[in-house]
Amino acid sequence: MELWLFLLRWIHFLAGITWIGLLYYFNFVQTPFFAEAEPAVRSAAIQKLVPRALWWFRWGAMATFIAGILLYIHYLVQSGAAGFYTTAYAWAITLGGTLGTVMFLNVWLVIWPNQQVVIASATQAAKGGQALPEAANCGRRAALTSRTNVVFSIPMLFYMGARHLTGFGEATTQGMLGLVVLGGAIIAAVEANALVGLQGDTKKPLDSVSGALWSGFILTAVFYLLFLVLF
Ligand code: HEM
Repeated sequence: MELWLFLLRWIHFLAGITWIGLLYYFNFVQTPFFAEAEPAVRSAAIQKLVPRALWWFRWGAMATFIAGILLYIHYLVQSGAAGFYTTAYAWAITLGGTLGTVMFLNVWLVIWPNQQVVIASATQAAKGGQALPEAANCGRRAALTSRTNVVFSIPMLFYMGARHLTGFGEATTQGMLGLVVLGGAIIAAVEANALVGLQGDTKKPLDSVSGALWSGFILTAVFYLLFLVLF
C-alpha cells in the first residue's frame, strides 16, 4: 500500500507540473507574445503550436485530478469521514483539492471548448474563409478563465502542502462551517468573475500577469487568515 501511495503521489506531481507549467507558459509567455506577433505568425501558431500545447495541458490536468482524487479518497477511507474531518489537515487538503478541482473543470469545460472555436476560426481564415464571429468572445472567455486559474494555482499549491502545515488545532463544527461558507463564497465569487461578462473593473487584475500573480498571493493570505481564525 505504501509503495502504491508513493507511486500515486509521484504521478500526481508529474502530471501537476506538466499542467501548471503549461498554464504558466500560456499566461506568462504565449499571450504577451501573441499581442506583439504579426497576424501570419499568430495564425500559424494557433493552428500548429496551440493544439499541441493544449493536448498536454488538458490531459495533464486529467491525470493530476484523477491521481489527486484517488489520494483524497484513500485518506478519507483510511481515517473514516468522522475522524478525517476533525483534523485541520483534512480541511487544508480539502481547500487545496477544491481549488484544484475548480481549475480542472475550468480547463475541460471552459478553456478547451472556447479554444476549439479560436483554433477553428484561425484555420478557416487561413484557408481563405471567414473568421468565426464568436471567436473573439470565446478567446476572451478562455483568457479570463486561464488567468483565474493562475490566481487559484497560488493558494492551491500552498494548500497541497497541507500535511506539512502545522500549528493548527482540531477542527470544530464552527470552524468547518465557517470554512465551507466563507471559503466557498470567496471561490464562487472569483470563479463567477471569470464566467460572467467580458469586461469590468473586477476583471482588470486579470489583464496583466502581475495583477493575476498579486491576486493569487492576496487570496492565499486571505485563506491563511481564515484558517488562523477558524482552526
Ligand atoms: C486537480 C485537483 C487536485 C486534487 C483533488 C489534489 C489532491 C491532492 C491530495 C489528496 C494530496 C495528498 C496530500 C497528502 O499526501 O497529504 C495531494 C498532494 C499534493 N499535490 Fe495535489 N491535488 C490536485 C491538484 C494538484 C496540482 C495541480 C498540483 C501541482 C503540481 C498538486 C501538487 C501536489 C503536491 C506537491 C502534493 C504533495 C503534498 C505532500 O506530499 O505533502 N496537486 N494533492
